[in-house]
Amino acid sequence: MRRQYIDIENSDTLRLKTDTLDAPAAGEIAITVDFAGVNRADILQRLGLYPVPDDASPILGLEVGGQVAAVGPDVDGFKIGDSVAALVQGGGYATRVNARADHTLKLPANIDSRNGAALPEALLTAWHNVFTLGALKPEETLLVHGGGSGIGTIAIQMAKAWGARVVATAGGQEKCARVRSVGADLVLNYRSGTLIEDFKNLALRGAIDVVLDMAGGDFTPLNFELAAPDGRIICIGVMRGSKAEIQLVPVLMKRLTLTGSTLRGLGMEGRAVGFAALEETMMPFVAAGQIEPHIDTVFSMEEAMAAHNRMQSGEHFGKILLDCRQTLN
Ligand SMILES: NC(=O)c1ccc[n+]([C@@H]2O[C@H](COP(=O)([O-])OP(=O)(O)OC[C@H]3O[C@@H](n4cnc5c(N)ncnc54)[C@H](OP(=O)(O)O)[C@@H]3O)[C@@H](O)[C@H]2O)c1
Repeated sequence: MRRQYIDIENSDTLRLKTDTLDAPAAGEIAITVDFAGVNRADILQRLGLYPVPDDASPILGLEVGGQVAAVGPDVDGFKIGDSVAALVQGGGYATRVNARADHTLKLPANIDSRNGAALPEALLTAWHNVFTLGALKPEETLLVHGGGSGIGTIAIQMAKAWGARVVATAGGQEKCARVRSVGADLVLNYRSGTLIEDFKNLALRGAIDVVLDMAGGDFTPLNFELAAPDGRIICIGVMRGSKAEIQLVPVLMKRLTLTGSTLRGLGMEGRAVGFAALEETMMPFVAAGQIEPHIDTVFSMEEAMAAHNRMQSGEHFGKILLDCRQTLN
């Protein structure tokens, strides 16, 4: 099947090209892509800073929303025309892609393919880190650094739907207000210059059970200070730097856990386990409208570079998407 896709010409140039996609293999479905999610990892890959694993497509794009176009052998539960969203092994910035059926979510009636494209990466990242590694309980408090990110906005809603209290950080008053509107109970401006005092004044020192941290760097010792006894600090990104100086005494005194993960590092089976858990636990909240993506902007495929520039600017709130509904000439 002919398709259009976005090729990395060099670190500054993305170009629309055409090639042929194989029929879906066993366990896979082919998806006609309506929209593709843009993720930080895509920018790193474009810049040559995120090596593509051997079993992945070198084409950008980790998540899509669209319709099932073909069903490969040994696939149950999907038929042509189903509205779906999938995590893919690269190749999402395209008009068509093959996805593992067990990495695909069937979309409920209230979620179209535009909103669907914004879900797989964020749902699975938040699920694995907050609920599996972090084991967040409904009576606990979650702190989300980067509350206005694509991942953060979904993680906040998942934790609220779960029954937990959610505190978040964001850069600037306007973003803080928007993160509050997503459902966070308290949002602190990390650019205020008084972040540590603000946490202390709100009696949050020693009160955080789970931290979802995409900041790293100098937020790491802060996380140790804020953590409650038996607190779990989960690192998913290093927006403030990959080095941190830490005091080990709070680790001993409070029995803290510091861990982290990447979705690709989970492996095929680990991701499939995560999707099965999401279907059971979080998709009912999605279908009920309690968890919904916040879309910042939608760019055409030809504007993929502008989409990356928007993400790099840090001005966005929520998800950036590519509209892949192209017509092949
Ligand atoms: N480990 C995994 O499996 C996994 C999977 C997906 C994503 N991630 C990571 O999760 C993060 C969010 O991804 P995304 O696609 O949702 O990206 P995104 O929407 O661009 O979010 C980036 C977030 O980082 C925050 N941030 C940037 N610089 C910061 C700083 N100096 N101090 C504190 N916060 C800062 C931003 O906050 P403001 O806008 O409020 O400044 C924003 O909320 C990225 O680091 C990404 O690499 C990890």
